[in-house]
Amino acid sequence: MPTIYIDDKPYEVKAGQNLLNAVLSLGMDLPYFCWHPAMGSIGACRQCAVKQYQDENDKQGRIVMACMTPAADGTRISIDDPEVQQFRANVIEWLMVNHPHDCPVCDEGGECHLQDMTVMTGHNYREFRFKKRTHRNQDLGPFINHEMNRCIACYRCVRFYDDYAGGDDLQAFAAHDHVYFGRHEDGVLESEFSGNLVEVCPTGVFTDKTLQRHYTRKWDLQSAPSVCHHCGLGCNTLAGERYGTLRRILNRYNRAVNGYFLCDRGRFGYEFVNSDDRIRVPQLRYRGDKDTEEISRDDAMRQAAEMLDTSSGLVGIGSPRASLESNYALRKLVGKDRFFTGMSENENHLVSEVFDILRNGPARSASLDDIRKADAVFVLGEDVLNTAPMAGLNIRQAIRNQPMEGVEEMGIPEWHDAAVREVVQGEHGPLYLATLTGTKLDREATDTYHAAPEDIARLGFAVAHELNDDVPAVADLDQDVQQLAEAIARALQNAKRPLVISGVSLGSEEVIRAAANIAWSLSTAETPADIHYIVSEANTLGLGFFESGGLDSALEMVESGEADTAVILENDIWHRAAPEAVESFFDTCKQVIVLDHLETGTVAAADLLLPAATFAEGDGTVINNEGRAQRFFQVFAPEEPLQESWRWLGEMCKQQGNDPRWNSHDDVSNMLFQDIRTFAGLVHVAPDSEFRLNNQRVPRSPFRYSGRTAMFADRDVHEPQPPEDPDSPLHFSMEGTSKQQPSGLTTFFWAPGWNSVQATNKYQSEIGGSLRGGDPGVRLIEPSKGATPEYFTDIPEQFSRDATEWVAAPVHHIFGSEELSARAEGVSQLVPDSYVVLNPADAKRFGDGEEITVALEIGSSIYTERVKTDSTLPEGIVGVPVNIEELSKIQLPDRANITEAESV
Ligand code: SF4
Ligand code: SF4
Ligand code: FES
Repeated sequence: MPTIYIDDKPYEVKAGQNLLNAVLSLGMDLPYFCWHPAMGSIGACRQCAVKQYQDENDKQGRIVMACMTPAADGTRISIDDPEVQQFRANVIEWLMVNHPHDCPVCDEGGECHLQDMTVMTGHNYREFRFKKRTHRNQDLGPFINHEMNRCIACYRCVRFYDDYAGGDDLQAFAAHDHVYFGRHEDGVLESEFSGNLVEVCPTGVFTDKTLQRHYTRKWDLQSAPSVCHHCGLGCNTLAGERYGTLRRILNRYNRAVNGYFLCDRGRFGYEFVNSDDRIRVPQLRYRGDKDTEEISRDDAMRQAAEMLDTSSGLVGIGSPRASLESNYALRKLVGKDRFFTGMSENENHLVSEVFDILRNGPARSASLDDIRKADAVFVLGEDVLNTAPMAGLNIRQAIRNQPMEGVEEMGIPEWHDAAVREVVQGEHGPLYLATLTGTKLDREATDTYHAAPEDIARLGFAVAHELNDDVPAVADLDQDVQQLAEAIARALQNAKRPLVISGVSLGSEEVIRAAANIAWSLSTAETPADIHYIVSEANTLGLGFFESGGLDSALEMVESGEADTAVILENDIWHRAAPEAVESFFDTCKQVIVLDHLETGTVAAADLLLPAATFAEGDGTVINNEGRAQRFFQVFAPEEPLQESWRWLGEMCKQQGNDPRWNSHDDVSNMLFQDIRTFAGLVHVAPDSEFRLNNQRVPRSPFRYSGRTAMFADRDVHEPQPPEDPDSPLHFSMEGTSKQQPSGLTTFFWAPGWNSVQATNKYQSEIGGSLRGGDPGVRLIEPSKGATPEYFTDIPEQFSRDATEWVAAPVHHIFGSEELSARAEGVSQLVPDSYVVLNPADAKRFGDGEEITVALEIGSSIYTERVKTDSTLPEGIVGVPVNIEELSKIQLPDRANITEAESV
């Protein structure tokens, strides 16, 4: 380890870092703007100046930028030298020449890196006495507010947006003091990751427009560690509340999962929690006349007891968007054999296939961080930017890894972003995409293949065969596909960290199996190859652990008369089974109890409706697609009777004489992992509610929290007791200690002098490394060491279009395909209107005009839809957007008929 000398004191530091990184890793303070731990150094702002000395005899030294200087053995620097201190103060003075100093009205105020750095440099008075230049701001869509006058030209925004996230509609325009960061004209930012500008920009240029709609000062937020519920990746978040409404989502750093970033669905999808459609009190619903009656909690429980007592058979329908605890509580209520996961039968089958492959095969389930580190990637069947956006962001980093090897050979350190990009230019490492249609990642791919699911699987099998003779050859493979398979196999074989990504989004078992064959073929006894399966919802893989049947089996139980009373947990089953089957289920089922957050088609068919707490109002655990169990904590105590589904269901168990004695989250989770052995690892997911630091709880509010004595003054001038929290070691208060809490209990990132998100540095074991105490969450699935895989051999026939029937295949949208975020105010503005997509050659059959509508017939339902065309979609397939309007009732994939409808 190199030793560096800072103000004459020796320090051992990790090799290969720059001085800024090293100084911050040592826990010292040094101001900076343009450097970012994930994006490296460009030396643009000149804020991180230190004085460097040649040796111990050099008393003069020279000013260098710490972020641009290697922390080599023997390096001697001073941070405290008066000349360098003055230099840093001068730098901030000139960076702020045109800054409006509008902190009291700025949304960034109180969490502003520019404020922090101004204080840190000791700069007080600006001597600039002239008129400041001003800019016109832009309307950038529903997520991001723009106030360009606050810019200090650090270039972080475009470096993140364009260089890191692959966007191209945000640029730096003009020159010298008129440099402008924005779009070429007003309009919605096109990147799936635009929300990160809020955290990346060190000033108030880009701020959260959704927070602005219900603004509260940042230090007045009560917050808790949470997990994103809007896809299967489980990115870590910090959710903030004030006055009983959820106000914003921030990134919560987890090196192994999302690192420093989130996607826009995850950041802005939270607004559904505040929706007018929220169910907040129990209701009796009279299905026939659509009448509803709000009832008390006690009456609801009495009603539930009566329904359960008079039932001739119960069935429980779980949910992949509900916590493990709530699903388990439902299983406890109805019994193991009457519990079903609530996923469509096909998805349930695919998830159990994924679960088996990950648990019993030799390949290793890759984390999001593993994607970042891969040096050759093959994606089979997933439009990742729409099904699991953060996986797409990390693929964009992975394809830099091979070209980076050349950079290292030239002696350029990885952190020197300006030099690295100069050398690498547009070069990409191997990335092969086999998807249904073209995707936004295509332009970065080495090669792409757009085909029907069967043909994607065939390509996968062919790649596996190239790698391994134990996998049978694919018959009748076109020559170009064969060549592509050979190229992909070569690239994976030559890579140090090859990665296969696949998933359930196409609904194809063959695709999943082909991916497994490849990863298994790449695995050796010593080194399991990485595979990353994308699943659709926050707890989809968690439900795989229950090893229960899917929704159709539950519906059949009612159809067959084995059950007449259904309890449906946080699930709109209209999305997950054929409409005629759901209709018949509701007609046949005598009594339906539904627990959910929002009005849905299923809620409309309930007899008794119980209001279920969302992720922000309750505690629970979810398992992401990697197999990582992660705990989310209640952010605020909702108004009674809103409570977690597991609490409602626990009370119902009690009424049935099956008292599970669940007084707290600990009780239910303890019983869960004692009852189901595969959940044993849950014991380590987070400290239990008894955990204390120096006999104190961990506060949810920062010590700067204000106005708590006035918050309820309209009702009572006495300050109320904060709510009790029997479920966690967190406190609904600013009292307690947040020093060195376990990493999974971080309620906010803050350190003296560091009020912005940059305070994350102070919580890491090293800059960009794990949080102190380790990455939050516990992996419950590891590869089966030494397992000899039984390769899949059922290779599908080549896809050929049917003369009369079409294949309706799923098309995913980041905004709209996930049901909860689609109900958020901001996100809902970007959900597309319903449509179907055809190859232009197919579309021609139904009209020549600009706008064509068709009648899409699936099962007994007919949907009249506008047609979009896409030449990358194979002929014979109709792409149907997932979860959009009426189309959400279609079970995909399916067979369809298309006939001409009226031309518009
Ligand atoms: S807009 Fe923000 S991130 Fe971009 S250059 Fe200006 S201050 Fe830096
Ligand atoms: S990638 Fe998925 S889990 Fe991560 S922030 Fe986006 S929606 Fe949430
Ligand atoms: S942080 Fe070093 S020059 Fe900007």
